[in-house]
Amino acid sequence: MQTPFDLPEPTAGARAHSAHLAALIHERISAAGGWIDFADYMDLALYAPGLGYYSAGATKLGAAGDFVTAPEISPLFARCLARAIAPVLQALPGADILELGGGSGALAAGLIPALARLGALPRRYRMLEVSADLGERQRALLGAQAGPQWPALEWLEALPGEAFRGVVIANEVADALPVSRFTIRDGAVQALGVGARSGGFAWAARPADPGLAAAVASRLPDGASAFAEGYTSEISRRLPAWIAALSATLGEGALVLCDYGMTRREYYHPQRVQGTLTCHYRHRAHDDPFRHPGLQDITAWVDFTAVAEAAVAGGLAVAGYATQAHFLLDAGLGQELAGAGHPLPPRLAQQARTLLLPGEMGERFKVMALSRGALAPGGFGFRDLRHSL
Ligand SMILES: C[S@@+](CC[C@H](N)C(=O)[O-])C[C@H]1O[C@@H](n2cnc3c(N)ncnc32)[C@H](O)[C@@H]1O
Repeated sequence: MQTPFDLPEPTAGARAHSAHLAALIHERISAAGGWIDFADYMDLALYAPGLGYYSAGATKLGAAGDFVTAPEISPLFARCLARAIAPVLQALPGADILELGGGSGALAAGLIPALARLGALPRRYRMLEVSADLGERQRALLGAQAGPQWPALEWLEALPGEAFRGVVIANEVADALPVSRFTIRDGAVQALGVGARSGGFAWAARPADPGLAAAVASRLPDGASAFAEGYTSEISRRLPAWIAALSATLGEGALVLCDYGMTRREYYHPQRVQGTLTCHYRHRAHDDPFRHPGLQDITAWVDFTAVAEAAVAGGLAVAGYATQAHFLLDAGLGQELAGAGHPLPPRLAQQARTLLLPGEMGERFKVMALSRGALAPGGFGFRDLRHSL
C-alpha cells in the first residue's frame, strides 16, 4: 500500500489542529532523546487529550468522516449479532450488555430493537467510549430512539468495578490499540520508531529493547532468525493487558470481538513483508501514519492468536472464531434476508454482499467469542476456525 497522491487537503482549521498535536509529539520525541516507540506515537496521534484523533472532534465515522464500519453499512450486522448473543442474555436474567467503543451508536441502535424482538433485552446497555464527541453522538442517536421498553442506557468512564454478567461487545476497537513496529536488520530485531525530520516525522530504527525482541521472537516457532532481512511488521504489546482487564471484568457471560485480523501464522507470514499498518483519511486507505496527525485513523490488524492466549491466561474459554461471513450466515443472515420481502430490496442485497464477500468484509473481518461459564454465543456452527489459532 502506498500513500495516495489524491488525499484531500484538510481545512485550515484542521491543519492548525494537526499542527498543535504535531508540536506536542515533537516535544515528546525531544524529551525522550530524539526517538519514541511507534506505539507511543500512535497513542498520542489517537488519544492525546483534546488533540488525538479519538479524543478530539474529527467526524471519524460515516460518509462525512474517514471510514464506515459493519453496523454503519447495514442493520443486518446488528440483527445477526443479536441472534448470536440472545441465548446468553436469555440464560442470564438481569444480565447487561457492555459495548466498548460504540462509535456513532449504530450498533446499539440496531441491537436493542433486535434483542427486543427476540425477547432477550438486557437490563442495562452500557457504553465505554474514549471519545467525548462519539459519546455525544451515541447519546443523541440512542436518546432519540429509546422507548419505554428499552434497557437503561449508561455511559461508563472505566470498566465496571464489579464482576460483569452479560455480553461485552467490541467491534473494530482492538485494531485501534497502539502497536510497536519492528524490522529485521542483519538478522536482529530493530524497533521501528519515530524521529523528527524536516518539521515532520520519519521512521527511525534502533536496536529493540529486550522485551520487544523477546515478543517478536515468540511470534515464530523458530524465533526472530526465521524472519527474512527487511521483514517489517507490528506487534501489539498492549493487547494482552487489554484482554486481561476485560477477562478480569467478565464474571459470567461472553465477550465478542469483531475486527480485521487473522491468526498469528497468517499475520507473520513470510510474504507479509510490510505488516498491516493502515491509515484511514476521508475514505482513502494508505500507509503513512505521519500525514495529518490527529486527523486520520491509524490501525493495525489484530493477532487473534494473541487475543486467545491472553483470554485463556485470564481464565476465559475461546468459544468460537470465524470469518465475519461465516459468523453472520450461521447467526441467521439468511433468515433476515428471507424476512425482508421478495424481491429483496436492492440496497439490502448490496449491504449483504459488502458484509459477506471475501473481497469486501467477509474474510478480512473475524469474530471471536470468549466466555466465562457454560454459556457461549452462537454463530460458530457453520465454520469454526479455532483449530487454526
Ligand atoms: C473504528 S471505531 C468503531 C466504532 C463502532 N464500534 C462501530 O463498529 O461502528 C473505534 C471505536 O473505538 C473507540 N475506542 C478507541 N480506542 C478505545 C479504547 N481503548 N477503549 C474503548 N473505546 C475505544 C473509538 O472512540 C471508536 O468509538
